[in-house]
Amino acid sequence: MKSVLITGGAGFIGSHLTRLFVTKYPEYHIVNLDKLTYAGNLENLRDIETAPNYSFVKGDICDAELLSSLFDQYDFTGVLHCAAESHVDRSITDPLAFVRTNVMGTVTLLHTVKDKWKDKMEGRIFYHISTDEVYGTLGDEGFFTEETAYDPRSPYSASKASSDHFVRAFYHTYHLPVKISNCSNNYGPYHFPEKLIPLCIHNIINNKPLPIYGKGENVRDWLFVVDHVRAIDTIFHQGKIGETYNIGGHNEWTNIALVKELCVQIDAKLGRAPGTSEQLITYVKDRAGHDLRYAIDATKLKDELDWMPSLQFEEGLSKTIDWYLANTAWLENVTSGAYREYYEDMYGKA
Ligand code: NAD
Ligand code: TYD
Repeated sequence: MKSVLITGGAGFIGSHLTRLFVTKYPEYHIVNLDKLTYAGNLENLRDIETAPNYSFVKGDICDAELLSSLFDQYDFTGVLHCAAESHVDRSITDPLAFVRTNVMGTVTLLHTVKDKWKDKMEGRIFYHISTDEVYGTLGDEGFFTEETAYDPRSPYSASKASSDHFVRAFYHTYHLPVKISNCSNNYGPYHFPEKLIPLCIHNIINNKPLPIYGKGENVRDWLFVVDHVRAIDTIFHQGKIGETYNIGGHNEWTNIALVKELCVQIDAKLGRAPGTSEQLITYVKDRAGHDLRYAIDATKLKDELDWMPSLQFEEGLSKTIDWYLANTAWLENVTSGAYREYYEDMYGKA
C-alpha cells in the first residue's frame, strides 16, 4: 500500500482533498497532518474518520523532529501540501504568522522530504498547493497564465510566492520531484466563515450586515472546491514533474454582484420577500492594498490534462447555500469563541 501525506487536511480545501483521496484510492494510506489552528476542524472529516486507509496526526509543519519521525514511520510516496495560513485580512494584522507557517513550514517540510527521499526520488511526488494571488493584480483585461511574473502585494500572497519559489528551488537544486498548482478563489461546503461567501451566507441567514469592502467593484474568479480537488487529483496523477498548472473556472464576479446573487438565492430558499436581504449590504472601509482583479487562464490544464470545471456558478452557489442551511450546527460551532473576538475586531459588534 502506498502512503500519501496530506498537510492541512482539516482545513477547507484539505478536507475535500482528503475525502476524495480516502474514498477514491482505497489502495493509498492517507495520513493527514494538521496543527488544528482556528481554521482546522476535524468535524470537516467526520464521514471518513474511521476509514481503514486514513490516519490523523495533530502536528505542526514547522516541527522538523515530528516530520522526520512521520517520514520514518510511513514511507510516503506522495505529499500534498495544503497547510497554510490562508486569510488575507489576518495576514495584514499578523504577517509573521504567515511567514512562519507558509515560508518556514514549507521549507522545513521540503528539507525533510529531500533528506528522506535522497536516494529514492523515482516515482515520488511533492505537490505544492498554491494560489493565483502570487501573480498580483490585474486591470480590466487579461488573465494570469503560468508565465505571468510573480508580483505579490499582500503579506499572504508574498508568503505563498516565497513558498512557491522554495519549491522550485528544491526542484532545480536537489531534483526534488515537485508539482505546483495555482488556483483561483474557491467556494463550497466547510468554508470558514471569515471569507466573503460563507461570511455573507452566515450573515444573511442571521440578518446581520454584509460588509462590502470599498465599492464592491473588486473582481474574483470563483471555482467550486470539489472541482479544485478534482484538478489536484488529475495533476498529481498525470501532471509532469517540475511543472506548474493554473486552475480556474473562467467565472469572474464583482463582489457586489456576487453578494446580490447570494441575497436573491437565500431569500428564495427561506421564503423571504425578494429584496429583503439586499438591505443588509453595508459598504465598509476598503482592505489595505486591495487587489482589484484576479482571473485565471487554465488553458494548459484543459489542453494537456483535459480538466474542466463541472459546475456552473449559480448551481455551485445553490449547492453551497443548501449545505450551510442544512449544517447550522457546524456554522454555530465555528463561529463561537475565538472567531467571535476576531469578528468584533474586524467589523465591530453587529
Ligand atoms: P484553511 O485556512 O481553510 O486551512 C488551512 C489548514 O492548515 C487548517 O486545517 C490549519 O489547521 C492547517 N495549518 C495551518 N498552519 C499549520 C501548521 N503550521 N502546521 C500544520 N497545519 C497547519 O485554508 P484553505 O482555504 O483550505 O487553503 C488550503 C491551501 O490552498 C492553502 O495553501 C492556500 O494558500 C491554498 N489556496 C486556497 C484558496 C482558497 O480560495 N481558499 C485558493 C487557492 C489556493
Ligand atoms: P476573501 O474571501 O477574503 O478572498 P481573497 O481576499 O483571498 O480574494 O475576499 C474575496 C473578496 O471579497 C475580496 O475582494 C475582499 C472582499 N471582501 C469583502 O468585501 N468583505 C468581506 O467581509 C470579506 C471577508 C471580503
